[in-house]
Amino acid sequence: MPKTTAISCSNIAFIKYWGNTDHELRLAANPSLSMNLADLTITATVQFDPEFSSDTLTINGKPVTGSAAERVFRQMDIIRHKANFTHRAKIATASNFPAGAGIASSAAAFSALAVAGAAAAGLSLSEAELSALARRGSGSACRSVPPGFVQWLAGGTDETSFAESIAPPEHWDLVDIVAVVSTEHKTVGSTGGHALADTGVLQAARLASAEERFIAAKNAVLARDLTALGMVIEEDAVMMHAVMMTSRPPLFYWQPATLAVIHAVRQWRADGIPAYFTIDAGPNVHLICERSHAETVASLVRTLPGVQKILRSGVGGGTKITNSE
Ligand code: DP6
Repeated sequence: MPKTTAISCSNIAFIKYWGNTDHELRLAANPSLSMNLADLTITATVQFDPEFSSDTLTINGKPVTGSAAERVFRQMDIIRHKANFTHRAKIATASNFPAGAGIASSAAAFSALAVAGAAAAGLSLSEAELSALARRGSGSACRSVPPGFVQWLAGGTDETSFAESIAPPEHWDLVDIVAVVSTEHKTVGSTGGHALADTGVLQAARLASAEERFIAAKNAVLARDLTALGMVIEEDAVMMHAVMMTSRPPLFYWQPATLAVIHAVRQWRADGIPAYFTIDAGPNVHLICERSHAETVASLVRTLPGVQKILRSGVGGGTKITNSE
């Protein structure tokens, strides 16, 4: 059977996925919208062989066991079920950004694993089917399969919950500048967080208004209107963190430096520099701006106390197979 390699971009959500209607299937409670990040990528190589006695995984060359590996092997189980065989797999992933950079890698990893795994198993799946398969590994991974600017309409079933492109990467030259304020491993990851979303009173209010923010953000992307996009992504990110902070038990991802970056970017805007923040399930702040302002924003971010380093990326394409032998 062919040994297949795929490369996938990470993505940053403009409208966040937070909470599921089905945790096992990772059916999102609300629609989300993101852009792929061209310069933060993961490659995954998968080979199935009847001779292998067990599934094995290496990440950046190091053998991995335990719950992280089990999660990857479960995605292989779904592929094996579709392909109707039981061969074990040899799996290797590698990222082009340092492990522990404070950047979530599950979206890029599980989209690359879905695309490489399906091809290695001889399955010929549509983009929508590959996106749905990626979703089973990590919800946000479904958005890294199609190119550019991507929507994930929550969908009510395994088959109908997938992501699709709303505009190609060339549509708008946006840049994400990530202010890394901590590289510590978080104690509660997103899977645990999704499970807590409904325990507080704010998630219901967030969900009731999510569609409206999703449409506003989508229209702003289509119209390349950064002011409109910026306002709604900041509101959406803060609302998700309000839900997190009021879950039972509460989740506090922000550090003092997180808030310092938020205040700084608001001041830069008042000074005429158009950049807007969004924050995932962690303390690091993503600043979204057009490429013409990226250099200015990057040099300003570097001067802020508490910012350890920055990562930056333009808009990326979809998951691609790079090798099959
Ligand atoms: C805050 O996709 O990481 O980044 O399905 O459990 O892997 P799992 O969750 P994940 O959740 C993403 C949460 C988020 C928002 C987003 O990317 O939409």
